[in-house]
Amino acid sequence: MATPFLKWAGGKAKLAQAVLDRFPRDFGAYHEPFLGGGAVFFRFGDVHPGSQARINDQNETLAETYRVLRDQTDTLLDRLRSLSDHYLGEDAAGRAAFYYAVRASEPADPAGRAARLIFLNRTCYNGLHRINRSGRFNVPHGRYLRPRILDEDNLRACAAALASADVSSLDFGAACTAAAPGDAVYLDPPYFPLSTTSRFTAYTANGFGWPEQERLAAVFRDLTRRGVFALLSNSAHPAISALYESFEVEEVPMSRAINSRGDRRDSIPELLVSNANVLAGQLPNPS
Ligand SMILES: C[S@@+](CC[C@H](N)C(=O)[O-])C[C@H]1O[C@@H](n2cnc3c(N)ncnc32)[C@H](O)[C@@H]1O
Repeated sequence: MATPFLKWAGGKAKLAQAVLDRFPRDFGAYHEPFLGGGAVFFRFGDVHPGSQARINDQNETLAETYRVLRDQTDTLLDRLRSLSDHYLGEDAAGRAAFYYAVRASEPADPAGRAARLIFLNRTCYNGLHRINRSGRFNVPHGRYLRPRILDEDNLRACAAALASADVSSLDFGAACTAAAPGDAVYLDPPYFPLSTTSRFTAYTANGFGWPEQERLAAVFRDLTRRGVFALLSNSAHPAISALYESFEVEEVPMSRAINSRGDRRDSIPELLVSNANVLAGQLPNPS
């Protein structure tokens, strides 16, 4: 069973089953335009092995990493083994120096870039993926005693899950044009911040502000018109519920850490929006 090999902000490991439970029994291809760490995609592969999947994330280095894992599995594992052996063989100061040297490096080949991304993700502070204005990964070194840089069994399981997948790095609007009637799409955009009281002042540091949320709702309506099943997750913000008011909007409780040490947990609802109600109304009359 494959599980995400990257820690990714907004990872949906806890929501994956709830998402897949709401999918129709039969559908054509599976599309995931906001792939991130792929928690739902990898779970999907267990439930529907061998299905055609089209996965996408605008982050080009991330999409390239999935393609390298699929097409050059052994080369990638060798690169990671060498990074892992070097890092784990050092003392604390040596590990930090090696981390910053890898962070500063710019590998010229896809396998080198993919190994760098996985290595940094496993050894950086909190497993964050953060890029500064000039597009450089700038997270400091983490403090894991024995980080699992090379989890060969899981990486091979992920490569198998990716074997029949198309991987692209487009904007979600372009990625969704590939969906055909009868296909199914799961949309997991960067969440609209709950702390925002007005959609006009929406925080857009992640590059995904209110205009993108509106554009996404238009894509959701377009998928529905074209007879494509669509399921979307987002924060339980009234402005988001209002964007999708003609669809099935459900609040799902999600347990999450509510302080920085992660020792206090609370249940914060998230939204799942499905177009199944509208699609059912569009079905041709059997008579
Ligand atoms: C909430 S995360 C997805 C998390 C994923 N479901 C998981 O389980 O890890 C949203 C993703 O959307 C990507 N993204 C942001 N803007 C995008 C856009 N305009 N088109 C496609 N992908 C985008 C980000 O790179 C990020 O990986």
